[in-house]
Amino acid sequence: MILGIETSCDETAAAILADGTKILASVVASQDQIHAPYGGVVPELASRRHVEVIVPVIRKALSDASVSLADLAGIAVTQGPGLVGSLLVGCSVAKSLAYVRKLPLVGVNHLEGHIFAAFLQEPTPDYPFLALVVSGGHTALYLARQPLAYQLIGQTRDDAAGEAFDKVAKLLGLAYPGGPVIEQTARSGDPRAISFPMAQITDGAPDFSFSGIKTAVSLHVKRARPLSAAHVADIAASFQATVVKMLAKKTVGAALSLGVRRLVLTGGVAANKALRAALSAEAGERGWELFIPPPALCTDNAAMIAAAGQARLSAGERAPLTMNAIPDLKLAEPRPQGSGAR
Ligand code: KG4
Ligand code: ZN
Repeated sequence: MILGIETSCDETAAAILADGTKILASVVASQDQIHAPYGGVVPELASRRHVEVIVPVIRKALSDASVSLADLAGIAVTQGPGLVGSLLVGCSVAKSLAYVRKLPLVGVNHLEGHIFAAFLQEPTPDYPFLALVVSGGHTALYLARQPLAYQLIGQTRDDAAGEAFDKVAKLLGLAYPGGPVIEQTARSGDPRAISFPMAQITDGAPDFSFSGIKTAVSLHVKRARPLSAAHVADIAASFQATVVKMLAKKTVGAALSLGVRRLVLTGGVAANKALRAALSAEAGERGWELFIPPPALCTDNAAMIAAAGQARLSAGERAPLTMNAIPDLKLAEPRPQGSGAR
């Protein structure tokens, strides 16, 4: 059994995982209410809250799983990428526990954690697969040819998709976090009501861009004010449909050019039903396999960190007690400039 700890952004999470796949407990303390008045995460407030709740959250995970620290075989903690103050809280606690209990410790890349969420349900993906990791801080395509080895295929050149959802929600006067609220609001809207531009990446790279559509929504809102509830729903639906189309198109294009027939969709935005449905349709049409974690494992949680950590511990990886947060930790080296789709 291993303890996973996740504090990279605004969720304080701890989980107990058995045998690398069985979730005995997964506790997520959300800070949404703290950051909602600001329409985005305030780093100082996030780290302060992590300090307050990390110990109770770990205690609750242990008690939910009916285990004690003495039962653990290791500790996995998110090392990065993320907010430095937030990451430091998880790393400090993980190091303290590892030191006191003499347990093996491993630092996990948050994005690898998101990918490992796909291994927490049956069936699990074989290799190779192409993973679309789409969250509040990241939007990227990674090719996993074999366990624990990743190649960056494409990424956003500006905003992350989740960030675009959050910013558009703010423009529309909707609550934070924007993703779930836009999805809910879009249900009563017409996805074809407004034609928002799809970003064009002219050099052929499978990269994403979401700043253009955010600006288009902002201009539309300024022109159309005051907005009726029906108009807000149409904007939400049209925005969501366009973002989903962009994500699906780039993912399918990259898979085709790589000759990969297995996809993983993960990260907070992967909780979005329209995106899940669009990628399912694309994969189904081509006879590809598609793996999407359940929504609660798409958004930030510690079970996914424990799963990735278990794989790394099994591979013999150990972090020294001098390990620390790396806010800009990379999962794979960037593609060389001008190298096109590969
Ligand atoms: O993975 P995550 O929990 O945290 C990061 O690593 O960033 O992702 C959070 C992001 C937020 O931007 C949130 O608005 C978005 O995921 N999100 C969604 C949905 N649920 C969460 N976006 C679209 N539709 C959703 N249902
Ligand atoms: Zn995340």
